[in-house]
Amino acid sequence: MKGIILAGGAGTRLHPITLAVSKQLLPVGDKPMIYYPLSVLMLAGIREILIISTPHDLPQFRRLLGDGTHLGLAIEYRVQAEPNGLPEAFVIGADHIGDDPVALILGDNIFHGHDFYSILSRNSADIQGCVLFGYPVNDPERYGVGETDAAGNLVSLEEKPDRPRSHTAITGLYFYDNAVVDVAKNLRPSARGELEITDVNRWYLERGRARLVNLGRGFAWLDTGTPESLLQAGQYVVTLEERQGIRIACIEEVALRMGFIDRDQCHRLGAALAKSPYGRYVMAIAREGAER
Ligand code: TTP
Repeated sequence: MKGIILAGGAGTRLHPITLAVSKQLLPVGDKPMIYYPLSVLMLAGIREILIISTPHDLPQFRRLLGDGTHLGLAIEYRVQAEPNGLPEAFVIGADHIGDDPVALILGDNIFHGHDFYSILSRNSADIQGCVLFGYPVNDPERYGVGETDAAGNLVSLEEKPDRPRSHTAITGLYFYDNAVVDVAKNLRPSARGELEITDVNRWYLERGRARLVNLGRGFAWLDTGTPESLLQAGQYVVTLEERQGIRIACIEEVALRMGFIDRDQCHRLGAALAKSPYGRYVMAIAREGAER
């Protein structure tokens, strides 16, 4: 499976912070926001990853992550000229996707929860149709909202409904089979003038080929779109990290645990950042290996 991180957009709710800096490069706790979605794709076992951002911001992502070989990844970059909507990722990324299934994650989505690795690996194997991930929220009218049958098949999908049929919001992590490329290419813009991911998901729903995996209450799915939520996400991360002595979305650690790099390489990556607590953590992880 290939991966795409969509990290464009205007970040207007964070102005003036995002006038000169991409939202997805802002700090969440001790690391740039994009580390979180990147680590999700890595946990799903995905090593070929495309990062899509604005013409203005893309060079900074490249500066941060390079070609990914140091993490055992192959990272490519493409521009989205205008924020024309999420499904444009599959049109821009068609070459990258080739004949494979694809995971799309939004660059500002932060997930954290128990056994995420198992949930991801269980649901990324042999994708037929699409797999969406749902999360219970108390303000479903702000989101795409889904309902499932007892077997986890998606049975209804509503976009920002006035009277939601469920409290399950569709999160910014989506797995699709290869048909998504053609679906996206044939999509028409909505009244808002954008391509809508809900229309892609509805295509699968109408064919009975959409599943919704409920992440449930033991999980955190955090918003980072406003100054308050960005700060809260950072506090959540720092609180857990300090309490447990672990780090969330440490991409070097994930690369080591997934077997993408060995301990020597992990140590080298940490040593290059040794003046920061983050770098020293990476070195400690490399020394301790899987024992931690
Ligand atoms: P949004 O939160 O809808 O938009 P935004 O990030 O630009 O923020 P604001 O509402 O404050 O203006 O986008 C969700 C994510 O998807 C975010 O990571 C930006 C990204 N995105 C793109 O990369 N391209 C797009 O065409 C759109 C619509 C969003």
